[in-house]
Amino acid sequence: MSRKADSFKTQTIKIDRQQLGDNQFIPAVELLRSGEVVGFPTETVYGLGGLITRPEAIGKIFEAKNRPPDNPLIVHISDFQMLDELVLELPRGAEKLCRKFWPGPLTVLFKKSPLVPEIVTAGLSTVAVRMPSHQVARKLIELAGAPVAAPSANLSGRPSPTTAEHVYHDLKGKIPLIIDGGKSELGVESTVIDLDRDPPVLLRPGGLNYEELQQLIPQLELVERGSKNDDNLPGELIERPTTPGLKYKHYSPKAYLILIEKPMARTAGYLTKIWEKYHQKEKRVGWIHTSGKIELPEEIKQDSRTSVVDLTPAGKLDSREHDSKLVARELFASLRALDNKGSEVIVVEGIGYEKEGLAVMNRLKKAASEII
Ligand code: TXA
Ligand code: MG
Repeated sequence: MSRKADSFKTQTIKIDRQQLGDNQFIPAVELLRSGEVVGFPTETVYGLGGLITRPEAIGKIFEAKNRPPDNPLIVHISDFQMLDELVLELPRGAEKLCRKFWPGPLTVLFKKSPLVPEIVTAGLSTVAVRMPSHQVARKLIELAGAPVAAPSANLSGRPSPTTAEHVYHDLKGKIPLIIDGGKSELGVESTVIDLDRDPPVLLRPGGLNYEELQQLIPQLELVERGSKNDDNLPGELIERPTTPGLKYKHYSPKAYLILIEKPMARTAGYLTKIWEKYHQKEKRVGWIHTSGKIELPEEIKQDSRTSVVDLTPAGKLDSREHDSKLVARELFASLRALDNKGSEVIVVEGIGYEKEGLAVMNRLKKAASEII
């Protein structure tokens, strides 16, 4: 059952992170304390929050998003004291890691204390915790006075929201309030890691790069790349659910999404062939152009049924092939924008797996209807 679309007149309040005043947070804090849910900004994507001390709020999060009940939520904290109440013990290396990367786009699994309601963790004995760096998010949690459980504030299965408008588009009428704190600067969700496994495992690549984590945890394993015993080529995806959420279809636009993964397929000639196939069928094609080395043919750029989103690196002359930070920041917003333009097919040029590329390709592979 999902929350009725007309339960609320959804309000949006703008809060400037450079000029935080406690008064601006009063409506949001009152709603949270009364067991309601609130959309709020983080540096990764927007979240839909409820206090863990109000389990009825957590039920409303699942309803509003239409989220499967076996997919646990991340608990957001504003300081280290809050962590103590949530967890029974710290895994080896956790303190050092969290002190280095919090506040920021890192989520760590801990053995949960009885204080964390079962509905938050979907019955698991672990709780995923993160301290966001967005000042509006931290201030909200601090003033509410308790940890905030929050998934991304999109309808389940859709691309995550990186602006307050995206949240409004998906959840209007279903939630009372959205705090607009500007565009999320990273654009992909947090990196989730499990330190209790030996070796420690990266469960979901995200806003904190694998390369940076590896400097502190050299043995960190990347499940998606396959373990040493697998015959898969480096970079090959093994479909193995590692965190409950990963078995569901995710991040998908309404359009049929084609991911061009093989670098060999990323030539102007090949891309034109793909475009022609759909152009001949009179389809409205959306195109996410990431490769600075390829000049898209004029016939693609000029066609009235085709919409191109240009995410190529600025300054063509010394351009690298792609700008992974830019692609990560704009990915979900681009998918949403092309959906809104009525694109029936979206073609996205994949990027390399380095840095932000790992999270970008992880999201695209899950969202894609076809991978070439
Ligand atoms: O950046 C983010 O992480 C955003 C912002 C709002 O903080 N949140 C977010 O939440 O992406 P969500 O619910 O969309 O994704 C949480 C992921 C899911 O894949 C879920 O299965 C996993 O974290 N997760 C949560 N608790 C877990 C647990 N105890 N064990 C394993 N995986 C867990
Ligand atoms: Mg999500």
